[in-house]
Order: sequence, then structure tokens, then C-alpha cells
Amino acid sequence: MRLFVGLPPPAPARDELVRALEPHLARWPGLRWLDAENWHVTLSFLGEVPDRVLPELRTRLARAAARHAPMTLSFAGAGAFPSAGRARVFWTGLCGDLLRLGRLADSVAAGARRAGAGQAEHRRFTPHLSLARCRPETDIGPLVEAFGPFSGTEWELETVHLIRSNLGARVRYETVEEWDLAARAPRGQG
Ligand code: 2AM
Repeated sequence: MRLFVGLPPPAPARDELVRALEPHLARWPGLRWLDAENWHVTLSFLGEVPDRVLPELRTRLARAAARHAPMTLSFAGAGAFPSAGRARVFWTGLCGDLLRLGRLADSVAAGARRAGAGQAEHRRFTPHLSLARCRPETDIGPLVEAFGPFSGTEWELETVHLIRSNLGARVRYETVEEWDLAARAPRGQG
């Protein structure tokens, strides 16, 4: 099955982003706007994972989650992959405990690798939430600029999800299991 470890944003952060995007949608009808119900921050993409690996993968991911504390994040700004001038993906970025988020992503990727579910091609973790895909590549410079000032309210990241992606005419995501971040927050951060 095709799996990834992701962070679905809580409803208030998601709804706020939906409202902020609203005025931009009609101006960019050529983009394929992703369904807000499906939005997630991809922490680690695992790709096709054999069923036999799943028990060990669950154990490793539970262990990784238990080693990290909840953290405060917010959505902010805008960007594009690979570049605004020739974009394939339009995204909003993240602010907050990004150092700790990066460590969590590393832990999860290492745990998955040890379970035998690692990706051969390892992309560096760039915290973002994909909002739209562009096919063919599109110059979305004005959109990136217009959405750049967006700054959402803070939310607490408390769980990581192992998500199955069912490809088809309409991609469907299904949480296989989720784990709470269970370590104590570092001193001075509540
Ligand atoms: P992104 O949209 O968050 O950038 C589930 O398919 C998620 O995994 C997608 O949302 C995508 O990330 C990410 N993904 C898909 N294919 C990938 C690949 N080959 N390498 C890394 N990440 C990938």
C-alpha cells in the first residue's frame, strides 16, 4: 500500500486558510485546488510499502512519536515547487517550532527506514502544505506574491498520522493509525 506520515491540520487552522484562499480561487481557474478535507503536511513520504512491513513500521512510528513533545505551529506565507515562475505545486509554509518539527521528521524517516519502509530517494524535509497543483507548469508569481502576507493563528501539533493514499480519479486518504507526541515539552515552552 502507498503510505506517508502526515499532519492533517486542525479544523480551525484549516478553515481559516480556506477563507484566506477564497478571494484567489477565481483568479487562478487553471490550477487544480486540493480539497481542504485532504490537506496535510507531509512529514515523510514512504511510497509503496509491503504489508509484511506494517507491524514493525507501526512499532517504530509509535516509538518516534513518543520521543517528541507537542509543538506550536502556524501556517504562513506562500511558495511554489520548484519555483514560482515554473510552478508545479503552490503551497503555504509553516512557522513556529520548525527545528523540532524537522527533528520529528528525521525521527519518523529513520524509524520507517529501519522498519524497511524507507524511500530510496530521500527529499529534504521542507515544511509546507500543498494547496494546488499546476499542470502544465505555470507562472504563479502573482499568486505567491498576493498570498505571501498570509499569517495564520497558532495551533498545537499533537499527533502524527500514518496515512494510506488511495490513488484514483479522486485521491482518497485514510488514516491507518495515529500516535500522540508523548514526550514532555522542553522547559520554558509549556
Ligand atoms: P506534498 O503534496 O505534501 O508536497 C502523499 O502522496 C503526499 O506525499 C503528497 O501530498 C506529497 O507531498 C508527497 N509525495 C508524493 N510523492 C512523493 C515523492 N515521490 N517523494 C516525496 N514526497 C512525495
